[in-house]
Amino acid sequence: MLIIKDINNLKNYINQYKSENRSIGMIPTMGALHDGHGALIKSSKEHNDKTIMSIFINPKQFNNKDDLSSYPINKGSDYDYAIKNNVDIVFEPDQKKIYPKNFQSIKNSFYKNILCDLYRPGHFDGVITVVNELLNLTSPNKVYFGLKDYQQFKIIEKLIDKSFSNIQIYGVETVRDQDGLALSSRNKFINKPNRLIYINFINTLNKFILSIDPETEIKDANQKLDKFIKENIDQIKKLEYCEFRSIQDMSINGKVKNSRLFTAFYILGTRLIDNLKA
Ligand code: PAJ
Repeated sequence: MLIIKDINNLKNYINQYKSENRSIGMIPTMGALHDGHGALIKSSKEHNDKTIMSIFINPKQFNNKDDLSSYPINKGSDYDYAIKNNVDIVFEPDQKKIYPKNFQSIKNSFYKNILCDLYRPGHFDGVITVVNELLNLTSPNKVYFGLKDYQQFKIIEKLIDKSFSNIQIYGVETVRDQDGLALSSRNKFINKPNRLIYINFINTLNKFILSIDPETEIKDANQKLDKFIKENIDQIKKLEYCEFRSIQDMSINGKVKNSRLFTAFYILGTRLIDNLKA
């Protein structure tokens, strides 16, 4: 496996792959790799001749300085993980090369003022800015994102639709631990008792989903869900949002059968997001 930091060096390899007619799969990450990232690698390996994974902790998408400074970094084991999973290139660019002086960020205009965009203003500007850069640098055939970050996936789908018509985007279903916890680089901040609180919360939400008729209008389901949360969820002290939204356009129009239940919440100081199939 190659670990490449230099952009020109990366471009040489990409040009070589292209001249050999090899297809390239690309996986943007911020490192601290786990089996959620592993599922993206697996999909890329199945579809492409070469798989490039970027590891770049993108300062522009952190709207909270503490969140950025505490973001887990795990370089040695990231390399081991990527080697074990047969990644061809780990691309680890320098911040100054990605964001030279006077760099102009992009503003996201999709799926605004809902879910994470409402609670993390500017976050998705940072995400699409870096993804736009990474796609320009790697010009892959296919790119892979996890559906755990569903709103991110939908926003990047729009970006690709608008600016990268040659690239195909793939969404990979959320990988969970045996106990149901969605894998996340932030899970290491959660201790056992708090883990149980999270799992209980998700199980309770799944029970609610099972109790609701899939033909129910999303708006009605959200009203019932609000009431249900007030009556049944008391251990999650800081719940940012918990609502069904259409998987087509992230709106609250349509039926539950075409939606997912999206939630963001804090466990002690750690912000977690999840979404459940309805
Ligand atoms: P990061 O959190 O490192 O995640 C990289 C990719 O892995 C994302 O597409 C994310 O949705 C996916 N992923 C994370 N946990 C997953 C899980 N449990 N199951 C399936 N996929 C999972 O998301 C980012 O980085 C950044 O915002 C990035 C897109 C790299 C831009 O900086």
